[in-house]
Amino acid sequence: MKNHTKNNIFASLHASSGAEIVTESVPGPKSISLMKRQEEIESNNRSYPREIPIAFQSGKGAIIEDVDGNRFIDFLSGCGVFNLGHNNSFITEAIKSRGDLLTQAVDFPTETKIEFMERLNLALPETIRNKMKVNFGGPTGSDAVESAIKLARIVTGRHSIIAFQGGYHGMTMGALSVTSKLLHRKAAPPLIPGIHFLPFCSPYRCPFANAHSSYSGECIRYFEFCLENPYSGIDKPAAIIIEPIQGEGGTYIPTRRWLEQITEVARRNGILVIFDEIQTGFYRTGKMFAFEHTGAVPDIVTMSKGIGGNGYPLSLILYKKELDVWEPGTHIGTFRGNQIAMAAGLAAFEFIEKYNVPQHVLDVSGEMKNKLEKIKESSRYIGDVRASGMIFGIELVKNKNTKEPFPEAIKVLRKLCYENGLIVEVGGYYDNVVRFLPPLTITKEIAENGLRIFTDANKEMENLITSSDTRR
Ligand SMILES: Cc1ncc(COP(=O)(O)O)c(C=O)c1O
Repeated sequence: MKNHTKNNIFASLHASSGAEIVTESVPGPKSISLMKRQEEIESNNRSYPREIPIAFQSGKGAIIEDVDGNRFIDFLSGCGVFNLGHNNSFITEAIKSRGDLLTQAVDFPTETKIEFMERLNLALPETIRNKMKVNFGGPTGSDAVESAIKLARIVTGRHSIIAFQGGYHGMTMGALSVTSKLLHRKAAPPLIPGIHFLPFCSPYRCPFANAHSSYSGECIRYFEFCLENPYSGIDKPAAIIIEPIQGEGGTYIPTRRWLEQITEVARRNGILVIFDEIQTGFYRTGKMFAFEHTGAVPDIVTMSKGIGGNGYPLSLILYKKELDVWEPGTHIGTFRGNQIAMAAGLAAFEFIEKYNVPQHVLDVSGEMKNKLEKIKESSRYIGDVRASGMIFGIELVKNKNTKEPFPEAIKVLRKLCYENGLIVEVGGYYDNVVRFLPPLTITKEIAENGLRIFTDANKEMENLITSSDTRR
Protein backbone atom coordinates (compact mmCIF):
# COMPACT_ATOMS: atom_id res chain seq x y z
CA MET A 1 0.00 0.00 0.00
CA LYS A 2 1.27 3.47 -0.92
CA ASN A 3 1.98 5.99 1.81
CA HIS A 4 -1.40 7.51 2.52
CA THR A 5 -2.27 10.33 4.85
CA LYS A 6 -5.20 10.04 7.23
CA ASN A 7 -7.26 12.24 4.95
CA ASN A 8 -6.96 10.31 1.73
CA ILE A 9 -6.64 6.77 3.06
CA PHE A 10 -10.38 6.15 3.09
CA ALA A 11 -10.85 7.27 -0.52
CA SER A 12 -8.04 4.99 -1.68
CA LEU A 13 -9.75 1.86 -0.39
CA HIS A 14 -12.67 1.72 -2.84
CA ALA A 15 -12.95 0.59 -6.47
CA SER A 16 -14.94 3.73 -7.34
CA SER A 17 -17.01 6.41 -5.68
CA GLY A 18 -20.37 5.18 -6.84
CA ALA A 19 -22.55 2.59 -8.50
CA GLU A 20 -22.65 2.00 -12.24
CA ILE A 21 -25.12 -0.24 -14.05
CA VAL A 22 -23.71 -1.02 -17.48
CA THR A 23 -26.10 -3.75 -18.62
CA GLU A 24 -29.51 -2.82 -20.01
CA SER A 25 -31.09 -4.08 -16.81
CA VAL A 26 -30.08 -6.21 -13.84
CA PRO A 27 -29.47 -9.04 -13.49
CA GLY A 28 -27.23 -9.04 -16.56
CA PRO A 29 -26.86 -12.10 -18.82
CA LYS A 30 -23.84 -13.61 -17.06
CA SER A 31 -25.49 -13.28 -13.65
CA ILE A 32 -28.62 -14.97 -14.99
CA SER A 33 -26.59 -17.81 -16.40
CA LEU A 34 -24.68 -18.39 -13.14
CA MET A 35 -27.88 -18.27 -11.11
CA LYS A 36 -29.40 -20.95 -13.35
CA ARG A 37 -26.37 -23.16 -12.80
CA GLN A 38 -26.58 -22.43 -9.07
CA GLU A 39 -30.23 -23.47 -8.96
CA GLU A 40 -29.38 -26.81 -10.58
CA ILE A 41 -26.91 -27.78 -7.91
CA GLU A 42 -27.29 -25.69 -4.76
CA SER A 43 -29.81 -26.24 -2.00
CA ASN A 44 -33.26 -24.71 -2.01
CA ASN A 45 -32.14 -23.21 1.29
CA ARG A 46 -30.24 -20.40 -0.49
CA SER A 47 -31.85 -17.06 0.26
CA TYR A 48 -30.10 -13.79 -0.66
CA PRO A 49 -29.96 -14.27 -4.45
CA ARG A 50 -33.74 -14.64 -4.51
CA GLU A 51 -34.12 -11.00 -3.41
CA ILE A 52 -30.85 -9.66 -4.82
CA PRO A 53 -30.21 -11.65 -8.00
CA ILE A 54 -26.53 -11.00 -8.67
CA ALA A 55 -23.49 -13.17 -9.28
CA PHE A 56 -20.49 -11.42 -7.74
CA GLN A 57 -17.12 -11.08 -9.41
CA SER A 58 -15.00 -8.87 -7.15
CA GLY A 59 -15.05 -6.28 -4.41
CA LYS A 60 -12.95 -3.35 -3.29
CA GLY A 61 -13.94 -1.24 -0.31
CA ALA A 62 -17.65 -0.46 -0.38
CA ILE A 63 -17.99 -1.40 -4.05
CA ILE A 64 -18.88 -4.82 -5.45
CA GLU A 65 -18.68 -5.68 -9.12
CA ASP A 66 -20.84 -8.39 -10.63
CA VAL A 67 -19.89 -10.78 -13.45
CA ASP A 68 -21.46 -8.43 -16.01
CA GLY A 69 -19.35 -5.46 -14.94
CA ASN A 70 -22.09 -3.67 -12.97
CA ARG A 71 -20.90 -1.88 -9.88
CA PHE A 72 -22.96 -1.80 -6.69
CA ILE A 73 -22.57 0.15 -3.48
CA ASP A 74 -22.51 -2.43 -0.74
CA PHE A 75 -24.56 -1.53 2.34
CA LEU A 76 -24.74 -5.23 3.29
CA SER A 77 -21.01 -5.90 3.75
CA GLY A 78 -21.37 -9.67 3.71
CA CYS A 79 -23.90 -9.45 6.59
CA GLY A 80 -21.86 -6.94 8.57
CA VAL A 81 -18.52 -8.68 8.15
CA PHE A 82 -16.44 -6.31 6.02
CA ASN A 83 -15.98 -3.58 8.60
CA LEU A 84 -12.88 -2.36 6.76
CA GLY A 85 -14.33 -2.97 3.30
CA HIS A 86 -13.68 -5.67 0.74
CA ASN A 87 -10.05 -6.58 0.06
CA ASN A 88 -8.51 -3.94 2.26
CA SER A 89 -4.91 -4.01 0.98
CA PHE A 90 -3.46 -2.87 4.32
CA ILE A 91 -4.73 -6.18 5.68
CA THR A 92 -3.81 -8.40 2.73
CA GLU A 93 -0.27 -7.03 2.77
CA ALA A 94 0.05 -7.49 6.52
CA ILE A 95 -0.95 -11.15 6.13
CA LYS A 96 1.65 -11.65 3.36
CA SER A 97 4.35 -10.06 5.51
CA ARG A 98 3.92 -12.89 8.02
CA GLY A 99 5.13 -15.48 5.49
CA ASP A 100 3.79 -19.02 5.22
CA LEU A 101 1.34 -18.92 8.08
CA LEU A 102 -0.46 -22.13 8.89
CA THR A 103 -4.01 -21.60 7.75
CA GLN A 104 -5.16 -23.47 10.80
CA ALA A 105 -3.25 -24.51 13.88
CA VAL A 106 -6.02 -25.92 16.10
CA ASP A 107 -5.24 -24.47 19.54
CA PHE A 108 -1.46 -24.62 19.47
CA PRO A 109 0.20 -21.33 20.39
CA THR A 110 1.67 -19.27 17.55
CA GLU A 111 3.20 -15.78 17.57
CA THR A 112 0.24 -14.55 15.53
CA LYS A 113 -2.35 -16.00 17.86
CA ILE A 114 -0.76 -14.73 21.07
CA GLU A 115 -0.24 -11.26 19.56
CA PHE A 116 -3.86 -11.28 18.39
CA MET A 117 -5.21 -12.10 21.85
CA GLU A 118 -2.95 -9.54 23.52
CA ARG A 119 -4.01 -6.88 21.02
CA LEU A 120 -7.65 -7.80 21.56
CA ASN A 121 -7.18 -7.37 25.30
CA LEU A 122 -5.74 -3.87 24.74
CA ALA A 123 -8.81 -2.92 22.71
CA LEU A 124 -11.20 -3.87 25.50
CA PRO A 125 -12.84 -1.10 27.51
CA GLU A 126 -11.27 -0.49 30.91
CA THR A 127 -14.15 -2.18 32.71
CA ILE A 128 -13.06 -5.58 31.35
CA ARG A 129 -9.44 -5.05 30.16
CA ASN A 130 -6.98 -7.55 31.70
CA LYS A 131 -9.95 -9.30 33.30
CA MET A 132 -10.97 -11.62 30.47
CA LYS A 133 -9.94 -14.95 28.99
CA VAL A 134 -10.37 -15.74 25.30
CA ASN A 135 -11.86 -18.96 23.93
CA PHE A 136 -11.94 -19.94 20.26
CA GLY A 137 -14.30 -22.55 18.90
CA GLY A 138 -15.77 -23.19 15.47
CA PRO A 139 -15.36 -20.26 13.08
CA THR A 140 -18.96 -18.99 13.07
CA GLY A 141 -20.83 -16.65 15.37
CA SER A 142 -23.31 -19.40 16.22
CA ASP A 143 -20.51 -21.46 17.69
CA ALA A 144 -19.48 -18.57 19.95
CA VAL A 145 -23.06 -18.43 21.21
CA GLU A 146 -23.03 -22.19 21.81
CA SER A 147 -19.88 -21.88 23.89
CA ALA A 148 -21.22 -18.89 25.85
CA ILE A 149 -24.37 -20.80 26.81
CA LYS A 150 -22.36 -23.91 27.64
CA LEU A 151 -19.92 -21.99 29.85
CA ALA A 152 -22.74 -20.20 31.71
CA ARG A 153 -24.42 -23.54 32.41
CA ILE A 154 -21.18 -25.12 33.64
CA VAL A 155 -20.30 -22.17 35.88
CA THR A 156 -23.72 -21.85 37.50
CA GLY A 157 -24.86 -25.47 37.41
CA ARG A 158 -28.19 -24.12 36.10
CA HIS A 159 -29.68 -24.72 32.67
CA SER A 160 -32.33 -22.08 32.07
CA ILE A 161 -31.48 -19.03 29.91
CA ILE A 162 -33.39 -15.79 29.41
CA ALA A 163 -33.27 -14.44 25.88
CA PHE A 164 -35.10 -11.48 24.34
CA GLN A 165 -37.89 -11.11 21.84
CA GLY A 166 -36.44 -9.91 18.55
CA GLY A 167 -33.04 -11.44 19.31
CA TYR A 168 -30.99 -13.28 16.71
CA HIS A 169 -28.10 -15.46 17.82
CA GLY A 170 -27.54 -17.97 15.02
CA MET A 171 -28.66 -21.25 13.56
CA THR A 172 -27.03 -24.10 15.48
CA MET A 173 -29.39 -25.74 17.98
CA GLY A 174 -28.33 -23.81 21.10
CA ALA A 175 -28.04 -20.50 19.26
CA LEU A 176 -31.36 -21.11 17.48
CA SER A 177 -32.98 -21.91 20.81
CA VAL A 178 -32.22 -18.39 22.05
CA THR A 179 -33.25 -16.84 18.72
CA SER A 180 -36.83 -15.63 18.77
CA LYS A 181 -37.92 -15.55 15.13
CA LEU A 182 -40.67 -18.15 14.78
CA LEU A 183 -39.92 -18.82 11.11
CA HIS A 184 -36.46 -20.01 12.05
CA ARG A 185 -37.57 -21.87 15.15
CA LYS A 186 -40.39 -23.82 13.53
CA ALA A 187 -37.97 -25.62 11.20
CA ALA A 188 -36.33 -27.75 13.82
CA PRO A 189 -38.32 -28.50 16.96
CA PRO A 190 -37.74 -29.42 19.68
CA LEU A 191 -35.07 -26.90 20.56
CA ILE A 192 -33.07 -26.99 23.79
CA PRO A 193 -35.33 -26.71 26.84
CA GLY A 194 -35.30 -24.01 29.51
CA ILE A 195 -35.24 -20.92 27.28
CA HIS A 196 -37.57 -18.02 28.18
CA PHE A 197 -38.12 -14.94 26.06
CA LEU A 198 -38.81 -11.54 27.59
CA PRO A 199 -39.49 -8.23 25.86
CA PHE A 200 -36.51 -6.25 24.60
CA CYS A 201 -36.39 -2.49 25.03
CA SER A 202 -37.34 -1.36 21.54
CA PRO A 203 -38.75 2.13 22.13
CA TYR A 204 -40.54 2.37 18.76
CA ARG A 205 -42.46 -0.83 19.51
CA CYS A 206 -42.56 -0.90 23.30
CA PRO A 207 -45.22 -3.44 24.38
CA PHE A 208 -45.66 -1.81 27.79
CA ALA A 209 -46.32 1.88 27.47
CA ASN A 210 -49.32 3.48 25.84
CA ALA A 211 -47.41 6.67 25.27
CA HIS A 212 -43.79 5.65 24.93
CA SER A 213 -42.20 9.01 24.52
CA SER A 214 -40.02 8.29 27.53
CA TYR A 215 -38.55 5.22 29.12
CA SER A 216 -40.68 4.08 32.06
CA GLY A 217 -38.71 1.03 33.21
CA GLU A 218 -41.85 -1.15 33.21
CA CYS A 219 -40.00 -3.86 31.32
CA ILE A 220 -37.37 -3.94 34.08
CA ARG A 221 -40.10 -4.37 36.69
CA TYR A 222 -41.48 -7.22 34.59
CA PHE A 223 -38.01 -8.77 34.35
CA GLU A 224 -37.63 -8.52 38.14
CA PHE A 225 -41.08 -10.05 38.59
CA CYS A 226 -40.12 -12.99 36.36
CA LEU A 227 -36.95 -13.61 38.35
CA GLU A 228 -38.22 -12.98 41.84
CA ASN A 229 -41.78 -14.32 41.83
CA PRO A 230 -41.76 -17.96 43.03
CA TYR A 231 -44.72 -18.61 40.73
CA SER A 232 -43.05 -17.18 37.60
CA GLY A 233 -42.58 -20.59 35.99
CA ILE A 234 -39.00 -19.62 35.15
CA ASP A 235 -36.28 -21.69 36.81
CA LYS A 236 -33.49 -19.44 38.01
CA PRO A 237 -31.48 -18.85 34.83
CA ALA A 238 -27.81 -19.47 34.30
CA ALA A 239 -27.60 -16.38 32.10
CA ILE A 240 -29.36 -13.74 30.12
CA ILE A 241 -28.23 -13.28 26.53
CA ILE A 242 -28.67 -9.87 24.93
CA GLU A 243 -27.64 -8.12 21.75
CA PRO A 244 -26.82 -4.62 23.05
CA ILE A 245 -28.38 -3.47 19.77
CA GLN A 246 -30.65 -5.97 18.05
CA GLY A 247 -29.33 -6.42 14.53
CA GLU A 248 -31.44 -8.86 12.51
CA GLY A 249 -34.38 -7.94 14.74
CA GLY A 250 -34.41 -4.52 13.03
CA THR A 251 -31.59 -2.39 14.46
CA TYR A 252 -33.47 -1.82 17.69
CA ILE A 253 -31.43 0.32 20.06
CA PRO A 254 -32.45 -0.02 23.70
CA THR A 255 -32.19 2.91 26.05
CA ARG A 256 -28.93 3.16 27.93
CA ARG A 257 -30.80 2.79 31.23
CA TRP A 258 -32.50 -0.42 30.13
CA LEU A 259 -29.22 -2.17 29.35
CA GLU A 260 -27.69 -0.94 32.60
CA GLN A 261 -30.71 -1.88 34.71
CA ILE A 262 -31.25 -5.31 33.19
CA THR A 263 -27.57 -6.09 33.82
CA GLU A 264 -27.83 -4.84 37.41
CA VAL A 265 -30.93 -6.91 38.14
CA ALA A 266 -29.36 -10.05 36.63
CA ARG A 267 -26.18 -9.57 38.66
CA ARG A 268 -28.15 -8.96 41.86
CA ASN A 269 -29.80 -12.33 41.25
CA GLY A 270 -26.53 -14.18 40.55
CA ILE A 271 -27.27 -14.55 36.84
CA LEU A 272 -24.49 -14.21 34.26
CA VAL A 273 -24.78 -11.56 31.56
CA ILE A 274 -23.87 -12.53 28.00
CA PHE A 275 -23.62 -9.73 25.46
CA ASP A 276 -23.77 -10.96 21.90
CA GLU A 277 -21.57 -8.47 20.05
CA ILE A 278 -21.19 -10.61 16.94
CA GLN A 279 -22.83 -7.97 14.76
CA THR A 280 -22.35 -4.83 16.81
CA GLY A 281 -18.79 -5.46 17.96
CA PHE A 282 -15.47 -4.59 16.34
CA TYR A 283 -16.23 -0.87 16.02
CA ARG A 284 -19.48 -1.24 14.06
CA THR A 285 -21.07 1.38 16.32
CA GLY A 286 -17.91 3.52 16.49
CA LYS A 287 -16.68 1.82 19.66
CA MET A 288 -15.15 -1.62 20.08
CA PHE A 289 -18.46 -2.82 21.56
CA ALA A 290 -21.99 -1.44 21.49
CA PHE A 291 -22.31 -1.93 25.26
CA GLU A 292 -19.61 0.73 25.70
CA HIS A 293 -22.22 3.37 24.92
CA THR A 294 -23.70 2.47 28.31
CA GLY A 295 -22.40 1.71 31.78
CA ALA A 296 -23.36 -1.97 31.50
CA VAL A 297 -20.62 -4.58 31.95
CA PRO A 298 -20.94 -8.18 30.70
CA ASP A 299 -19.59 -11.42 32.15
CA ILE A 300 -19.29 -13.07 28.73
CA VAL A 301 -19.03 -11.45 25.28
CA THR A 302 -19.40 -13.18 21.92
CA MET A 303 -17.53 -11.90 18.86
CA SER A 304 -17.27 -12.90 15.19
CA LYS A 305 -17.96 -11.17 11.82
CA GLY A 306 -15.61 -8.12 11.71
CA ILE A 307 -12.94 -9.60 13.99
CA GLY A 308 -11.63 -11.72 11.07
CA GLY A 309 -10.30 -8.50 9.47
CA ASN A 310 -11.03 -9.12 5.83
CA GLY A 311 -13.98 -11.49 6.12
CA TYR A 312 -11.95 -14.50 7.28
CA PRO A 313 -14.00 -16.78 9.52
CA LEU A 314 -13.20 -16.38 13.18
CA SER A 315 -15.27 -16.38 16.32
CA LEU A 316 -14.49 -16.25 20.00
CA ILE A 317 -15.84 -15.53 23.41
CA LEU A 318 -14.35 -13.35 26.09
CA TYR A 319 -15.27 -14.16 29.67
CA LYS A 320 -14.25 -13.07 33.14
CA LYS A 321 -11.20 -14.95 34.39
CA GLU A 322 -13.05 -16.26 37.44
CA LEU A 323 -15.43 -18.13 35.14
CA ASP A 324 -12.59 -20.19 33.67
CA VAL A 325 -13.70 -23.39 35.36
CA TRP A 326 -14.40 -25.71 32.45
CA GLU A 327 -12.29 -28.79 31.86
CA PRO A 328 -9.71 -28.75 29.04
CA GLY A 329 -11.36 -29.75 25.77
CA THR A 330 -14.94 -28.97 26.86
CA HIS A 331 -15.68 -26.83 23.80
CA ILE A 332 -13.49 -27.72 20.85
CA GLY A 333 -13.61 -27.41 17.05
CA THR A 334 -11.23 -28.33 14.24
CA PHE A 335 -11.17 -24.84 12.75
CA ARG A 336 -10.53 -22.94 15.97
CA GLY A 337 -7.04 -21.83 15.00
CA ASN A 338 -7.38 -19.87 11.75
CA GLN A 339 -4.04 -18.03 11.61
CA ILE A 340 -4.93 -16.03 8.51
CA ALA A 341 -8.03 -14.67 10.25
CA MET A 342 -6.02 -13.82 13.35
CA ALA A 343 -3.31 -12.07 11.30
CA ALA A 344 -6.07 -10.20 9.47
CA GLY A 345 -7.73 -9.27 12.76
CA LEU A 346 -4.41 -7.97 14.10
CA ALA A 347 -3.88 -5.87 10.98
CA ALA A 348 -7.43 -4.59 11.28
CA PHE A 349 -6.72 -3.38 14.82
CA GLU A 350 -3.60 -1.63 13.52
CA PHE A 351 -5.48 0.03 10.67
CA ILE A 352 -8.28 1.17 12.97
CA GLU A 353 -5.84 2.77 15.37
CA LYS A 354 -3.53 4.26 12.74
CA TYR A 355 -6.31 5.94 10.77
CA ASN A 356 -8.67 6.67 13.67
CA VAL A 357 -11.56 4.72 12.19
CA PRO A 358 -13.89 5.42 15.17
CA GLN A 359 -13.68 9.17 14.41
CA HIS A 360 -14.32 8.51 10.72
CA VAL A 361 -17.38 6.42 11.68
CA LEU A 362 -18.70 9.28 13.82
CA ASP A 363 -18.18 11.85 11.03
CA VAL A 364 -19.74 9.86 8.21
CA SER A 365 -22.51 8.09 10.10
CA GLY A 366 -23.69 11.32 11.74
CA GLU A 367 -24.27 12.86 8.31
CA MET A 368 -25.95 9.70 7.07
CA LYS A 369 -28.33 9.68 10.03
CA ASN A 370 -29.20 13.37 9.49
CA LYS A 371 -29.98 12.72 5.83
CA LEU A 372 -32.12 9.72 6.69
CA GLU A 373 -34.07 11.80 9.22
CA LYS A 374 -34.76 14.34 6.46
CA ILE A 375 -35.89 11.60 4.09
CA LYS A 376 -38.19 10.32 6.84
CA GLU A 377 -39.85 13.73 7.26
CA SER A 378 -40.95 13.85 3.65
CA SER A 379 -41.67 10.14 3.32
CA ARG A 380 -45.11 8.61 3.64
CA TYR A 381 -44.02 5.24 4.96
CA ILE A 382 -40.77 5.70 6.90
CA GLY A 383 -41.93 5.56 10.51
CA ASP A 384 -38.58 5.45 12.27
CA VAL A 385 -34.87 5.86 11.59
CA ARG A 386 -32.38 4.29 14.00
CA ALA A 387 -28.61 4.38 13.88
CA SER A 388 -25.54 3.82 15.99
CA GLY A 389 -22.33 4.30 14.06
CA MET A 390 -22.54 2.22 10.90
CA ILE A 391 -25.62 0.17 11.77
CA PHE A 392 -28.86 1.67 10.51
CA GLY A 393 -32.51 0.67 10.53
CA ILE A 394 -35.26 2.36 8.54
CA GLU A 395 -38.66 1.05 9.54
CA LEU A 396 -41.52 1.14 7.06
CA VAL A 397 -45.11 1.39 8.27
CA LYS A 398 -48.42 1.74 6.46
CA ASN A 399 -49.47 4.48 8.80
CA LYS A 400 -47.17 6.55 10.98
CA ASN A 401 -49.78 6.75 13.77
CA THR A 402 -50.81 3.10 13.96
CA LYS A 403 -47.30 1.87 13.03
CA GLU A 404 -48.80 -1.01 11.10
CA PRO A 405 -45.77 -2.75 9.55
CA PHE A 406 -45.35 -2.54 5.79
CA PRO A 407 -43.22 -5.50 4.67
CA GLU A 408 -44.68 -5.41 1.12
CA ALA A 409 -43.16 -1.96 0.62
CA ILE A 410 -39.76 -3.21 1.72
CA LYS A 411 -39.71 -5.82 -1.02
CA VAL A 412 -40.35 -3.17 -3.67
CA LEU A 413 -37.85 -0.77 -2.12
CA ARG A 414 -35.06 -3.33 -1.88
CA LYS A 415 -35.59 -4.33 -5.52
CA LEU A 416 -35.51 -0.71 -6.70
CA CYS A 417 -32.32 -0.07 -4.69
CA TYR A 418 -30.71 -3.09 -6.27
CA GLU A 419 -31.78 -2.16 -9.80
CA ASN A 420 -30.09 1.19 -9.32
CA GLY A 421 -26.90 -0.14 -7.78
CA LEU A 422 -27.40 -0.28 -4.02
CA ILE A 423 -27.38 -3.50 -2.00
CA VAL A 424 -29.22 -3.31 1.32
CA GLU A 425 -30.17 -5.74 4.07
CA VAL A 426 -33.70 -6.31 5.33
CA GLY A 427 -34.78 -7.35 8.82
CA GLY A 428 -37.17 -6.37 11.57
CA TYR A 429 -39.78 -8.09 13.69
CA TYR A 430 -42.16 -7.92 10.73
CA ASP A 431 -39.54 -7.95 7.93
CA ASN A 432 -40.29 -4.25 7.54
CA VAL A 433 -36.92 -2.67 8.27
CA VAL A 434 -34.32 -1.72 5.69
CA ARG A 435 -30.91 -2.22 7.24
CA PHE A 436 -27.62 -0.62 6.25
CA LEU A 437 -24.32 -2.10 7.45
CA PRO A 438 -21.80 -0.23 5.28
CA PRO A 439 -18.08 -0.67 5.76
CA LEU A 440 -16.79 1.60 8.50
CA THR A 441 -14.34 2.95 5.94
CA ILE A 442 -17.01 4.20 3.55
CA THR A 443 -16.35 7.75 2.33
CA LYS A 444 -18.84 10.61 2.60
CA GLU A 445 -19.07 10.62 -1.18
CA ILE A 446 -19.97 6.93 -1.51
CA ALA A 447 -22.37 7.22 1.42
CA GLU A 448 -24.08 10.18 -0.27
CA ASN A 449 -24.29 8.31 -3.55
CA GLY A 450 -25.81 5.33 -1.79
CA LEU A 451 -28.33 7.50 0.04
CA ARG A 452 -29.26 9.24 -3.23
CA ILE A 453 -30.15 5.85 -4.74
CA PHE A 454 -32.10 5.02 -1.58
CA THR A 455 -34.01 8.33 -1.65
CA ASP A 456 -34.98 7.94 -5.31
CA ALA A 457 -35.95 4.31 -4.81
CA ASN A 458 -38.07 5.29 -1.80
CA LYS A 459 -39.89 7.96 -3.85
CA GLU A 460 -40.46 5.54 -6.70
CA MET A 461 -41.76 2.89 -4.31
CA GLU A 462 -44.18 5.43 -2.79
CA ASN A 463 -45.43 6.46 -6.24
CA LEU A 464 -45.89 2.84 -7.29
CA ILE A 465 -47.87 2.05 -4.13
CA THR A 466 -49.98 5.22 -4.39
CA SER A 467 -50.83 4.57 -8.03
CA SER A 468 -51.74 0.93 -7.36
CA ASP A 469 -53.93 2.13 -4.42
CA THR A 470 -55.80 4.60 -6.62
CA ARG A 471 -56.33 1.96 -9.32
CA ARG A 472 -58.03 -0.34 -6.81
C1 LIG B 1 -25.98 -10.98 16.86
C2 LIG B 1 -25.65 -12.23 16.12
N1 LIG B 1 -25.35 -13.34 16.79
C3 LIG B 1 -25.03 -14.49 16.17
C4 LIG B 1 -25.02 -14.57 14.80
C5 LIG B 1 -24.68 -15.86 14.11
O1 LIG B 1 -23.46 -15.77 13.46
P1 LIG B 1 -23.12 -16.81 12.28
O2 LIG B 1 -24.09 -16.52 11.17
O3 LIG B 1 -21.71 -16.51 11.90
O4 LIG B 1 -23.27 -18.17 12.84
C6 LIG B 1 -25.35 -13.44 14.04
C7 LIG B 1 -25.39 -13.48 12.58
O5 LIG B 1 -25.92 -12.64 11.90
C8 LIG B 1 -25.68 -12.24 14.72
O6 LIG B 1 -26.00 -11.12 14.06
